[in-house]
Amino acid sequence: MTPDHSKAARDLLAFYAEAGVDALLGETPVDCFAAQAAPPGPAEPAVPAERTRMPASPASAAVPAPPPPEEAVMAARSAARSAASLDELRAVLEKFEGCALRSTAKQLVFADGNPQARVMFVGEAPGYDEDVQGVPFVGRSGQLLDKMLTAIGLDRKDVYITNIVPWRPPGNRDPSLHETAICLPFIQRHIELVDPDVLVCLGKPSTAALLGISDGIRKTRGKWFTYNTGRRDIRAIACFHPAYLLRSPLEKRLAWRDFLAIRKALAN
Ligand code: URA
Repeated sequence: MTPDHSKAARDLLAFYAEAGVDALLGETPVDCFAAQAAPPGPAEPAVPAERTRMPASPASAAVPAPPPPEEAVMAARSAARSAASLDELRAVLEKFEGCALRSTAKQLVFADGNPQARVMFVGEAPGYDEDVQGVPFVGRSGQLLDKMLTAIGLDRKDVYITNIVPWRPPGNRDPSLHETAICLPFIQRHIELVDPDVLVCLGKPSTAALLGISDGIRKTRGKWFTYNTGRRDIRAIACFHPAYLLRSPLEKRLAWRDFLAIRKALAN
């Protein structure tokens, strides 16, 4: 490749990354426009939008299609129940094929911090840096979370950190409701095994998935709720997600109040 070509290739890749195209799904390109323009054959029954598939390329044909969502949720429930320890839960997740996100993510992002901690933080899903390192909250939001922890006298050895969804959604898109539903039994089992005294839901998706509250985070943040771990009731609080605080730094004063409330709860 000449220097000119290599610069053009780098620029093109940078453009794709900027546009959120950062995952390769198959080696062979698929021309979806050609498929649409094919001459009409005999009429086919309508297929619900969520079931339509891109025409399979030879490479994507090698990736087994994940089971439909209801089946995947049942499989997730029974796999999560089978895990008797955090190591087993990690191993079960490594093998679980019911969530399509695992095929676009680089690796599973299980958890970080101290499994004996009294406080557990749960975010939404890993981003690019977390996917590369296999550790939750290591990118810019993670650095802000570390600063917020330091401000209340804690660090990663005092807390346990994970996400609702343990694989990065391609291009950092939000996880879909199906993906979240499939991952929910695993995070519920994760919380049951860690058995913290205080659960912190970072952002609305985490609050909605774990506490079943779909109000906006500006309404729920700072409020205490009860979460049943499967063994006992514990205190749970909703807080702004650090990624939101990076975009809206003025809200940090409210986040500070919430972190002081967490510190106070841990002092009891
Ligand atoms: N955002 C999240 O919700 N989780 C991470 O691990 C990183 C960013």
